[in-house]
Amino acid sequence: MKWTIEVGRYDRTQAPKPGTTRPYPPPYENAPAKRYQTFEVELDDQAMVLDALIAIREYQDESLAVRCACRSAICGSCGMWVNGHARLACISKLRDVAQDGKVTVESPPSMPVIRDLVADMTPFWEKNRKVKPWLENKTPVPSGEEYRVPNDAMENLIQEVSCISCGLCLMDCESYGVNPNFIGPAALAKAYRYSADPRDDKTTQRLGEYSKPDGVWDCTHCYECVSVCPKGVAPLEQILKLRRMAVEAGFTDNAGTRHAEAFADSVRDSGRLNELTLMPKSFGLFNIRAQLASLPAAFNMMRAGKLPPIIHHKIPHLERIKTIFKRLGGIK
Ligand code: SF4
Ligand code: SF4
Ligand code: FES
Repeated sequence: MKWTIEVGRYDRTQAPKPGTTRPYPPPYENAPAKRYQTFEVELDDQAMVLDALIAIREYQDESLAVRCACRSAICGSCGMWVNGHARLACISKLRDVAQDGKVTVESPPSMPVIRDLVADMTPFWEKNRKVKPWLENKTPVPSGEEYRVPNDAMENLIQEVSCISCGLCLMDCESYGVNPNFIGPAALAKAYRYSADPRDDKTTQRLGEYSKPDGVWDCTHCYECVSVCPKGVAPLEQILKLRRMAVEAGFTDNAGTRHAEAFADSVRDSGRLNELTLMPKSFGLFNIRAQLASLPAAFNMMRAGKLPPIIHHKIPHLERIKTIFKRLGGIK
């Protein structure tokens, strides 16, 4: 069967040729030259995207740079954009992703690139290091003994331990796309893995760190990390667990917690979200600097006709909403 593979090629030494580049979105506007090159490959319908790329490199263009090792979703090295979404090329069947027999592969635009399909994963590893992904325990293990951990305490962590550090979740994370300092889904999933490990005795300090700006509260719940993760780690779920742990540990003096409270208060009291009061309540009524910083966004919303109504009305049958809150313990 014949497949058409359009490959995004990058080479720092080549100047872009007019008409062959596409805009390169932030945060890496100064990315190296990019051009698309089309190849035809003959492979059966069980073949993966990686098989096609290896066939191209072996028989058509030996200069094509592809990173891979295990070819079975274990090493995490073949992450790339396949038709605009982060995927492992070694487990993406051509027949599943091709549109009219054609597949476009490129390095994800959210990452710097080394060459062709090889992304520079430095941001991913820096974020991992930030959450201290190792156990910290000052209590020495009694001589001749070992730490005994209850089975159920570790069962709770199996999901996070399955991470293969492929970086797909970060490549497609919407919050990372607008804020390169956001710690990101994989690192936060790892942060939960160590915070919830009974052998770690730095949980409180960890939760304090993760509650700061660029941490757990900067996730916008877009669910991309859940849908692209090839190992079912579901980083968003781990972020939500971390948030709960942080609030229970008393880390509530931050915009994220206030935002969640303002959101819940508005829905409980009117059945609707009052977007006009959400920002001031989240950042603090007297935080003039934050209020001023939000003005450009407010003007943009106004220009797009998306400004919320000035007078906030309650919905009919509000008592039904209050019943839900009562059941969840949000109203005494
Ligand atoms: S759910 Fe949160 S962490 Fe996951 S991709 Fe979206 S913004 Fe990023
Ligand atoms: S959480 Fe999933 S997508 Fe993210 S690095 Fe780990 S395995 Fe890859
Ligand atoms: S080659 Fe190892 S995960 Fe794809």
